[in-house]
Amino acid sequence: LLPSRVFWSKGAKPIKIKQTMSTGEMWQVSTGSTVWGGGVVLQRYIETLGADFWAGKRVIELGTGTGLGGITAARLGAADVLVTDRDASVLELAEANAGANLGARASSTFRTSLLEWGPAPMDGSSVEPAYTQPWDVVIGADLTYNRDAWPLLVDTIKRLQAPVILTASERRPNELQSLQQFLSEKGLQLDVVQSPMTEGYAARNIRVLRIAKPPPFAKAVLSQAQAPGQMRAAKVPSKSAPARGKTPSGVQAGPSAKEKASELLRYTFNTKEGQLWYEVDTTLKQVRALPDSPIHAYTHRAGHDSCQASASTII
Ligand SMILES: C[S@@+](CC[C@H](N)C(=O)[O-])C[C@H]1O[C@@H](n2cnc3c(N)ncnc32)[C@H](O)[C@@H]1O
Repeated sequence: LLPSRVFWSKGAKPIKIKQTMSTGEMWQVSTGSTVWGGGVVLQRYIETLGADFWAGKRVIELGTGTGLGGITAARLGAADVLVTDRDASVLELAEANAGANLGARASSTFRTSLLEWGPAPMDGSSVEPAYTQPWDVVIGADLTYNRDAWPLLVDTIKRLQAPVILTASERRPNELQSLQQFLSEKGLQLDVVQSPMTEGYAARNIRVLRIAKPPPFAKAVLSQAQAPGQMRAAKVPSKSAPARGKTPSGVQAGPSAKEKASELLRYTFNTKEGQLWYEVDTTLKQVRALPDSPIHAYTHRAGHDSCQASASTII
């Protein structure tokens, strides 16, 4: 095992990560004292999303190990990064790695905190920094190698109430399939997104998952048609809805005057990936979406049509 690893990125200084695990004592030290394969993929995925995505974001990392994920997000402009682990010794390592790679920015943007996954205490008293402030994104790499910890990890993901980017590795046959099924059964909405790795072990055996916790992070509630051609403007109560015309991210809905005149009411979502849309056929009360639309659920109730958008596209 190497004492350090270097992660190169175009046009930026490489990130150098110290690792304290050595072959002789690998069963005695924390699993997090070296960078795992999932950590490499998460690092690359964070870079792929780019500075536009990370700028100003509040990011929490679970099971951080060496701190690589959080350090990468901080370098790309995340405003507040909290890396967590249950093991104090790896948090020291993460802190040292942050200092070496973030320089002066480390003290203003990067923090560490002990955090053991699990349900909220019965009396509701959570004092860990992880649960006392809101987050924009949760990140984590290679946290699912121990099946017994899956329920605890899910508890924590649900408590954090933010979209999650997770890398997971297939170490045993069908492990990833079971993990996906488990997460879905626990009510988490899951997308496997394109891995930044194109070949080799990581491309074959490590997946990038984006997880959302229903109720969704944005919900567009559309006023019901009075009669065809006389639609009311859509209302979007989502807190994350940006002002009209602003940089895409979040949900925005609202038909143009021309679209309103039609029996097909079109709503557009501004997302990181561009503008997506779906249409409600006001006569038939049916929704029509593009095949890769973020809409995953649509319900019609008297007085309201509502839809839910996949969080993977709206964070
Ligand atoms: C396999 S290592 C991955 C480290 C790093 N994310 C990476 O990919 O390089 C798993 C990390 O999760 C932490 N961990 C495992 N179970 C945990 C739990 N129940 N609560 C909090 N942290 C946990 C370990 O201490 C370790 O640092």
